[in-house]
Amino acid sequence: MLDKKKWGWWRDAVFYQVYPKSFQDSNGDGIGDIPGIISRLDYLQQLGVDGVWLSPVYDSPQVDNGYDIADYRAIWPPMGTMEDMDRLIAEARARGISIIMDLVLNHTSDQHAWFQRALQSRDDPYHDYYIWRDGTPDAPPNGLRASFGGSAWTYVPHLGQYYFHQFAPQQPDLNWDNPTVRRELYDMIRFWVDKGVEGFRLDVIDVIGKDPDRGVTCNGPKLHPLLDELSREAFREEGLVTVGEAWGADLERAKRYSALDASELSMVFQFQHILLDQLPEGEKWDMVPLRLTALKRCAEHWQQGLHGQGWNSLFLDNHDLPRIVSRWGDDTTYRVQSAKMLATMLHGMEGTPYVYQGEELGMTNIRLPIQAYADAETQCVYAERVARGDPPEEVMASIYARSRDNARTPMQWSAEKNAGFSQGDPWLPVNPNYREINVQDQLADPNSILAYYRSLIALRKRYPVFRDGTFTLLEPESEKLFVYTRQTDTEQLLVVCNFTGETVPYERPAAFARAERLLGNYDPAGGALRPYEAQLYYQRRQA
Ligand code: GLC
Ligand code: CA
Repeated sequence: MLDKKKWGWWRDAVFYQVYPKSFQDSNGDGIGDIPGIISRLDYLQQLGVDGVWLSPVYDSPQVDNGYDIADYRAIWPPMGTMEDMDRLIAEARARGISIIMDLVLNHTSDQHAWFQRALQSRDDPYHDYYIWRDGTPDAPPNGLRASFGGSAWTYVPHLGQYYFHQFAPQQPDLNWDNPTVRRELYDMIRFWVDKGVEGFRLDVIDVIGKDPDRGVTCNGPKLHPLLDELSREAFREEGLVTVGEAWGADLERAKRYSALDASELSMVFQFQHILLDQLPEGEKWDMVPLRLTALKRCAEHWQQGLHGQGWNSLFLDNHDLPRIVSRWGDDTTYRVQSAKMLATMLHGMEGTPYVYQGEELGMTNIRLPIQAYADAETQCVYAERVARGDPPEEVMASIYARSRDNARTPMQWSAEKNAGFSQGDPWLPVNPNYREINVQDQLADPNSILAYYRSLIALRKRYPVFRDGTFTLLEPESEKLFVYTRQTDTEQLLVVCNFTGETVPYERPAAFARAERLLGNYDPAGGALRPYEAQLYYQRRQA
């Protein structure tokens, strides 16, 4: 077990993201819940993870699946009670697993008591908890757009004012310029730390320093001073791990976010790799093929750039992204091989790996009729694009590839009814491939994707080179192979990945001729790499 009192313990850790609504239902209402998570802690312990990042379980009207919080200090009743939450924290800790809560600090739900008061009058003390501008119904303060579509300003007739929201209109942005708001948030964080929560994932943290009058949302002028204060007031507590979601992070900013003096956060999720297969001027729905050389250059940039200066988080999947095996692998013929290959590519790198529920099984994207998508963002893009004249089949093709609901279908535990997720009607359809892809089968199969993830996680704990080694890209011009080494004074690692469904000629570098093969997704053989083959070689270095 890791010593979690020690600063930097997360550098040896692997985290697992649970999307509670879709993880395990315990009472047959079709909604995953906290008792359900507790019943699966042994599974997570066997996988070898050190912490669980829990997407929101707070009380919420669920317009955005809990990222719209109505009460930061209460649990959404269908998910359980505060006693359940206390039990989860304790039961997880007993298994060496830390609970990392999702902190949504940029906005609340419009049902939050603060916003309800803010709506009452301009003079209410809570009014200034949110961002308001005077205006008339037909003239919003400016043209800023909300992330889920439409204007970022919503008019409230009886106040004669607009409020600002970067996401849905039911997610009003908090006013971070108001010191009372910040104090409330710091106190709320303390409430959870006192309960034994050992870290936080900070939702859309790079937009809190916004300046909406100048049209600035991401990376605003007040961002880093605010983070410094947040960290000082709430986090510089011994051992807390913090990871910020920062779509706008470049390397220089990431160095500040994850600086070694702990002045801001432990690490950030940056998304430059995730943005490589969309049109640069477009949105995620505007897809272009991934160029492997671009992905490799991106990895090299981050691996080398943060080495010794900050810390990376490593991820390919989360609850907002399509399933990686459907995206950059092959979810038909070579599903098993390509899922393992992608895992090898990621877990060989420097940083803290995050596994998103079902990724360890090679769960895939889903196709649903448009009415069956629960995600507000998906419904918005469909309506907007069809209204502007895009052919519906084209919009649906983007949705099949990119909708957030791809990642949100229920966890596939077994071949039984509803994949063992629920005895009732699941809130979102189960992917019909659960009979072939599920935990129960994979636990029984030593060659499963699940078994492979377990090996990767165990290897990271055994060899310090995974944490400390410098990164060197080999074969940089290849559009087929992703090959790199990691190296310390005493150890060397070689990671070889074939990103194609073809056999590709390859010869290991002479320096690794006698290296030990730690792991691979095929039986060892000499010569060419088979479709989506991945290999991991290791050796000690001569002194
Ligand atoms: C983050 C969350 C996403 C949510 C949004 C608004 O991007 O990951 O699920 O919709 O913030 O809170
Ligand atoms: Ca339930």
